[in-house]
Amino acid sequence: MIKYLIIISFLCCQLVSAQKVQFTTAVFQTGDSALWATQSFNDKEWKPIGLQTYWEEQGHDKYDGFAWYRIHFNLPSSLKEKAALQDLMEVFFPGIEDADITYLNGAEIGRTGLMPEDKGGFRSGGKYRERHYILRADLPALRWDKDNVLAIRVYDGGGTGGIVGAQSFIRFLEPVDYISMDAQSSDFKIKDKTVSKEITFQNRYSKNLDGVLTTTLNCNDSLVKKQVKSVSLMPGKNVISVLGLASEEAATVNFVFKETIKDSILQSIQDVPYILTPKEKKEPKINSASAFGCKLGVPFQFTIAATGTRPMQFEITDLPKGLKLDAVKGIISGKVEKEGTYRIKITAKNNTGKDQKIVDLLIGTKNTIATPPMGWNSWNCWGLSVSDEKVKSSADAMISSGLANHGWSYMNIDDGWESSERADNGSIRANEKFPDMKLLGDYLHSHGLKFGIYSSPGPKTCGGYLGSYQNEESDAKSYASWGVDYLKYDLCSYRRYFPKGILTLEELKVPYLKMYRELESSGRNIVYSLCEYGVWDVWKWGSEVGGNIWRTTGDISDNWTSLKEIGFTQEIPASYNGSDYGFGDPDMLIVGYVGWGDNLRLTRLTPSEQYTHISLWCLLSAPLMLGCDLARMDPFTYNLLSNDEVLAIDQDVVGKGPKKTDLPNDIQLWVKDLADGSKAAGLFNLGDKLLKKSFKLSELGFANAKSIRDVWRQKNLPSRDEIEVNIPSHGVMLLKIVSK
Ligand code: GLA
Repeated sequence: MIKYLIIISFLCCQLVSAQKVQFTTAVFQTGDSALWATQSFNDKEWKPIGLQTYWEEQGHDKYDGFAWYRIHFNLPSSLKEKAALQDLMEVFFPGIEDADITYLNGAEIGRTGLMPEDKGGFRSGGKYRERHYILRADLPALRWDKDNVLAIRVYDGGGTGGIVGAQSFIRFLEPVDYISMDAQSSDFKIKDKTVSKEITFQNRYSKNLDGVLTTTLNCNDSLVKKQVKSVSLMPGKNVISVLGLASEEAATVNFVFKETIKDSILQSIQDVPYILTPKEKKEPKINSASAFGCKLGVPFQFTIAATGTRPMQFEITDLPKGLKLDAVKGIISGKVEKEGTYRIKITAKNNTGKDQKIVDLLIGTKNTIATPPMGWNSWNCWGLSVSDEKVKSSADAMISSGLANHGWSYMNIDDGWESSERADNGSIRANEKFPDMKLLGDYLHSHGLKFGIYSSPGPKTCGGYLGSYQNEESDAKSYASWGVDYLKYDLCSYRRYFPKGILTLEELKVPYLKMYRELESSGRNIVYSLCEYGVWDVWKWGSEVGGNIWRTTGDISDNWTSLKEIGFTQEIPASYNGSDYGFGDPDMLIVGYVGWGDNLRLTRLTPSEQYTHISLWCLLSAPLMLGCDLARMDPFTYNLLSNDEVLAIDQDVVGKGPKKTDLPNDIQLWVKDLADGSKAAGLFNLGDKLLKKSFKLSELGFANAKSIRDVWRQKNLPSRDEIEVNIPSHGVMLLKIVSK
């Protein structure tokens, strides 16, 4: 009778399949004793317990502290015989709350979290954390074809406790468990529109493991390409290149590795970057906006942005008095003492040809900047870990990559540069990460770049550094002495500083106006960027307190939800935009390597979402501030940021905001009037499916079109009464329409 009962109890607590022995119940005892770990301990008096729910739900309500589970199971040698690889086994629990030490027949096989007796005291192993305890199949403690005992010492530090989850088991590791496939970490390489990728496999087994790697490329929901490659993975690291993923449209690639012994699969599906911007030409092309603004009687610096092979020679006619040109670097500098609009003609020449452009220098006009600023800001990449070195490395890359030739020029340090105490005379100092701000400013200017900085009207910045409260005059003077060209002034602690908070709009304007006056008398042309997250409709009064640009939203993040919520709600704020007024700022760009700290990652936006991001910001006449590490720029990101026809929409000298029309099926049309009488239009697909449709031009409001151009591809579309569109999910078609 006793024998019969034991057999029954074994059957209850384990299910044997060809692959694993699954555990369903155990016996259980609260308390703690080292003896309970052993195989031979007599636990007949212990009560059964299920392994799927907390012990609170099984008669041990509110019990915290130590308890033990003992799982009896038979380990059939047939399991070993059938295993493809007989080296390692895994004991798996889906979750144990809170900390555990697990023994197999008295031998410890794994632990998670810390026990009260451990150094530092109890620490939970983490809610919902799986346990994967790996052991060698030749472990002497294992008893083949006999009773084995897994004893789990659990400590519950509060709340629910015990072993929980769908399935706990012991099994042999399969070939695929020894292999990891990393298809994410390497960048897609792009050369002449051919995309390739390196996939890294780690084979942790002692011998080669074979398999087949199948790569399929799908575009517009149909298969474009399939590549099948046999691979033999050596022990250790194996890097396999997959070539020819070329695509000029949104596409996804599916990497499937099927190992040969058990046909198990490892898989990764990714969006393939697609290149739209045509290759840069050798001939000179001037890309600067056709207007540039500066205050009267202060240092002037304007760098001509031009693509084409170097060396290049620049010439200017009708340069106003007080300015000079560096004919090799294309930097115009000096000081203009007389207010007015000066129309200059710029010529850029190299050994393949020349280009000319008329640019208006607006000296002493109301809005310091004629077009939205384009440049870089440290926040979205480095967060508070920004340093002099990091700013310089991005500045160097801004030049060496060629981005500066497309008009990107500001290098702005965000929060994290300030020292914790002011100097004895009350002036602000940089912390140890920035040895010399003046030198940094000189360095940037000598490369034709601009220098931006960050502060708060409150006593503390958002990152907890020193703000400018009651030091506005001194701080503006310090900035000017370092050669600063741009100040982002971030509300932060000013809100909290006043016991009652800011109650009226007039109270909110006070600190912004105060700093504006100091910047005005600082003797430099400092772009004033207000950052108060859009409260009190800043677009209505930002200009009145001296702002050139003003943040219209909270902080952006590199995902579609954030991009959509911020970008597609800008119609009203942007309707105030104008070159003679100022520009709404829907926050910095989230393309390239971002991370808000030391660990950077490639943006989580898909390639199509990134085309949408840039197109929309350009249609909005928004400031374009890159938030990525420029020293680590992948070819897709460079291509995305160097399309001069796209950037020209942002840099249009009228600087208007666009009008939005909602169309059926989650389509939005955003149309912006440009200075030359033409229109820029973005047809955005906010839906989850590819949009394949033909639109009558009259449906879009362009019945009178003389020409219609695909701006990203820089190609005119056939002039018909309708256009065919093929817009991927979250993607865009950006058009320029010239009327008859
Ligand atoms: C706020 C701003 C960000 C950034 C941080 C710095 O969150 O909105 O753009 O400047 O502060 O601490």
